[in-house]
Amino acid sequence: MDRIRIVGGPELHGVIPISGAKNAALPLMIASLLTNETLTLENVPRLADITALLRILQNHGVDYKIDGKRPGEVQTTGRTLHLQAAAIVDTTAPYDLVSKMRASFWVVAPLLARMGEAKVSLPGGCAIGTRPVDFLLMALEKLGASIEIEAGYVVAKARKGLRGGEIVFPKVTVGGTHTALMAASLAHGDTTIHNAAREPEIVDLADCLVKMGAKIKGAGTSTIEISGVARLGGARHAVLPDRIETGTYAMAVAMAGGDVLLEGARPELLQSALDTLTASGVDIISSNEGIRVRRNGAPIMPVDVSTDPFPGFPTDLQAQFMALMTRAKGASRITETIFENRFMHVQELARFGAKIRLDNDMAIVTGVEKLTGAPVMATDLRASVSLVIAALAAEGETMVHRVYHLDRGFEHLEQKLVACGAVIERLAG
Ligand code: EPZ
Repeated sequence: MDRIRIVGGPELHGVIPISGAKNAALPLMIASLLTNETLTLENVPRLADITALLRILQNHGVDYKIDGKRPGEVQTTGRTLHLQAAAIVDTTAPYDLVSKMRASFWVVAPLLARMGEAKVSLPGGCAIGTRPVDFLLMALEKLGASIEIEAGYVVAKARKGLRGGEIVFPKVTVGGTHTALMAASLAHGDTTIHNAAREPEIVDLADCLVKMGAKIKGAGTSTIEISGVARLGGARHAVLPDRIETGTYAMAVAMAGGDVLLEGARPELLQSALDTLTASGVDIISSNEGIRVRRNGAPIMPVDVSTDPFPGFPTDLQAQFMALMTRAKGASRITETIFENRFMHVQELARFGAKIRLDNDMAIVTGVEKLTGAPVMATDLRASVSLVIAALAAEGETMVHRVYHLDRGFEHLEQKLVACGAVIERLAG
C-alpha cells in the first residue's frame, strides 16, 4: 500500500488550484439516472470516489465518456463527464458496490422515481459513526413509496410513481435533502422539504436539476418547494469549487506559514471557516482570482469552534482545524455536533506530541511549542489530511499510511503542496 512521506518545516508559497467539489460531483452524477438524455458535468475532480461511482452507475445502465486532456490544459483542470442513462438495465445496487461508498446509496431516489422500484444495499456504518439512512427512507415514504428491508437491502416500490408530499427532516441531513430533491423532481404534484440542508452542494444539485427541467424553489434555504414534472432532460453543468479542499489548504498554509493563492476558491462557500482562521491570526484576502491565505510569522491564536450544518463550521474541516490548534498559543475547545465518532484523528495527532483531551463531543486542545514527525495512519479522508497538515509543521519526517483515504477526496494532493514548496512524496508499495 502506498505511503506519503513528509518532511516538515518549509513555508508554503505559490498558487494552489482548487478542484471541483467531490460532494457536489457525486449527487450530480447520480442525477444522470433521472433522464434518458445526456448530462454533461464539467470540472469533475479525478478521485477514487468518482471512479467508484462511475462503476456503480454503469451497473444501472449509464454510459459515460470522459473528455481527454486538451492541449495546453494543466493536469489539475477538472474533467468533463458525459453521462447517459438511455435505459435503466438494473434497479439493484449490490452490497459489494454500495458498501465501498455511502453516497452511492442515494441512487435509490432516481431509480425509484424513474422506474417505480429500487433495491439498494444498506450502506452500514463507517469510521465516523453509525450514519443511519432512516431520514432518507422516511422522505421516500412521504412521497408514497413503500419501503421494506430484506436481507440487508432496502426494497423501495412506487408502482404508480411517486407523489408529492410534506417532508419534515427532524435533523438537517445533506443526503436526505439530495434524495428528496431528486425523488420529488419526478413525483406527481408538489413537495415541500422542511428543515432542508442549506449546503452549497444542495444548491449545486438543485441548479443542475432546474437546468434538466425540474421546478425547484428555495434551495439554499431551510424550505425547498418542488413541483414534480413528468420527465427531465439533458443539461450541461459545471461542478462548484470544493469548499472543503479550500479550507484544508487554507489551514495547511496557516499551519506551515507562508502566502498562497487558492485559485478559483469562493469565500461565500466557507465564510465561517475563513472567519475562524482570521480569528486565529491568519490573513485572508478574497479577490476575483480566489482566496489568498497568508501567515508571516504571526503566532497561531487559539479559537473555540463547534461544527454545525451550513452556514456553520463544517464537520469536514474539524480534523484539519484541530491539527492547526495543536500549535496554537493556548487552549481551544472543538465541539463536534454532527457525527458521534469523528475524533479518530485525536490519537494519531497525539503521535506528533499534540496535547488533546476528549470530553464527550468536545476536544480540548492545548497548543504545544513543537510537533515531531511520526508514523501515522487514519481511518477517513478528512482525518488523514489533518495528519498531513500536522506533518507540514512537525520537526523531522512523517510517514502517513493508508493513503487511499486521501485519494478518495483530494485531487493531486502531493503535487499541489510540492508546487508551493512542501517536502512531500508518495512512496509506492
Ligand atoms: C454528507 O454526508 C457528506 N457526504 C459528508 O462528507 C459530510 O460530513 C456530511 O454530509 C455532513 O456535512 C457527501 O456529501 C458525500 P448527513 P451525509 O445526512 O449526507 C444523521 C466527507 O468526508 N442522519 O448530513 O451522509 C447522520 O448520522 C463526508 O466528504 C441520520 O440520523 O450526512 C449525521 O449525524 C463524510 N439519519 C447527521 O444526520 C439519516 O437518515 C448528518 O448527516 C441521515 C443522517
